Amino acid sequence: MKRLDNNPALQLEVFSEASDTRPPKSVFSDPSFAINKSMPVHRWVPWIAGFSKEFVSDALDRHLRKSGLVLDPFAGVGTTLVESIIRGHCAVGFEINPYAELACRVKSNAHSFPIDLFRRTVRAYRDFYTSVSSNGYVPKSIAPEGFNTRGKFYSNRVLRKVLATLDFIHFGADKQVIDLLKLAFASTMITYSNYSYEPSLSRRESAGKSQVEDFPVGELIASKLDEMIDDMIWIRSQVVGKPPNSLVFNKSFFDCRDVMDRSSVDLVVTSPPYLNNYHYNRNTRPHLYWLNFVKSPAEMKVLEENNFGKYWQTVRDASRIDIAFPYPPKSLVDCIEGMRRKNTEKGIYGGNGWANYISTYFNDCYRLAVNLKWVLKRRGTALIVIGNNILQGEMIPTDHYLADVAKSVGLEVIDIHVPREFRIGNSIINSKVRVGKTQKSNTLYEAGVELRKK
Ligand SMILES: C[S@@+](CC[C@H](N)C(=O)[O-])C[C@H]1O[C@@H](n2cnc3c(N)ncnc32)[C@H](O)[C@@H]1O
Repeated sequence: MKRLDNNPALQLEVFSEASDTRPPKSVFSDPSFAINKSMPVHRWVPWIAGFSKEFVSDALDRHLRKSGLVLDPFAGVGTTLVESIIRGHCAVGFEINPYAELACRVKSNAHSFPIDLFRRTVRAYRDFYTSVSSNGYVPKSIAPEGFNTRGKFYSNRVLRKVLATLDFIHFGADKQVIDLLKLAFASTMITYSNYSYEPSLSRRESAGKSQVEDFPVGELIASKLDEMIDDMIWIRSQVVGKPPNSLVFNKSFFDCRDVMDRSSVDLVVTSPPYLNNYHYNRNTRPHLYWLNFVKSPAEMKVLEENNFGKYWQTVRDASRIDIAFPYPPKSLVDCIEGMRRKNTEKGIYGGNGWANYISTYFNDCYRLAVNLKWVLKRRGTALIVIGNNILQGEMIPTDHYLADVAKSVGLEVIDIHVPREFRIGNSIINSKVRVGKTQKSNTLYEAGVELRKK
């Protein structure tokens, strides 16, 4: 996996695709992986990582001396929840993307899986796959109808193997086992497709890569499943005593009041989408369609509309979207107005569209702050990892604005921690270096905003 430090989308980590068609020993065999991506359970799913497991474990050790309730409002694939469970804390996550929610839910319950049943299932999958490979088996599953791509997503040979695997998944009776099989398929499905992350999902052809004509799909999925079993055994040995509960909601954090108690959370560790317009939904489109989470572009649109900050594409056409919360930072309002006047001749690609996107993003930062205040216990802490961004040549210090907004709703700003490098890790917490002292106006960085409920 490469870390794209020179890419504006600093938050992204992408997985190198297999350069040939041999099954890699592990899907995560690239030696340049960030450390958490080679760690048990965390390695199950390639994702656009907001932070490392070290950052989370450090935050938990520092802020929760005894067992408590940890919340991740933007849970992704569950880094916060997995680390919380290992440390004996109950954990709650909200994740709007159904594929990420599946990953988060499965991973954070890895300690409670029926391992023997799962072992038998993996054996059965190997037997099934071998037998269908050698006879004239015609798969019953079909490719998702609404899933259209410019190029052929799977070659005919790969498609047959994928559909046979889906047949096996659909035979399953146990919900936990089905979810694990789905995750093993979804977390590998791009590797044997004609698409790759560059870092956004693109045709291999456009990236100068060869087409995948054939691939040992079943072998890769089975080795992934073996890895999962090893990690389940490992995580059981880590969770001592009565296992804590974890709960993941496939809904927006902004609906948290429907399912959570007020003043119930001890610690929040999270990373919301950045102001970099990285399109979580488009980049997981294959997973969403092939796992039957969405069936049409209209259903994708709903996800986009509910995403934190929406997307530039979703708001650029609006004539004007303004900041809609009381007492916004004056420099933010000025920045948005300046942006609105930029490149007006470019129509929807000009400054007004970006100004709408910035307003929408900080309106959601306000909603985040209000809901954090509602859900945190008195003296509870929230650690929010967030990246700045440069839009139309203008540097937007999202960390400072988020801190200002949080202050305006009555949260205490303890600090803004900035790592020395463009990397997320312990240094976020250790560092007391302030952005203003270290960052040039055109530098991309990630910061940890530490808030406390008074
Ligand atoms: C930076 S990622 C989090 C990654 C996570 N820290 C991890 O390590 O896996 C942000 C996540 O927020 C999710 N998201 C966006 N809007 C949301 C909302 N309104 N409520 C809940 N989750 C949301 C996105 O789908 C994405 O997975």
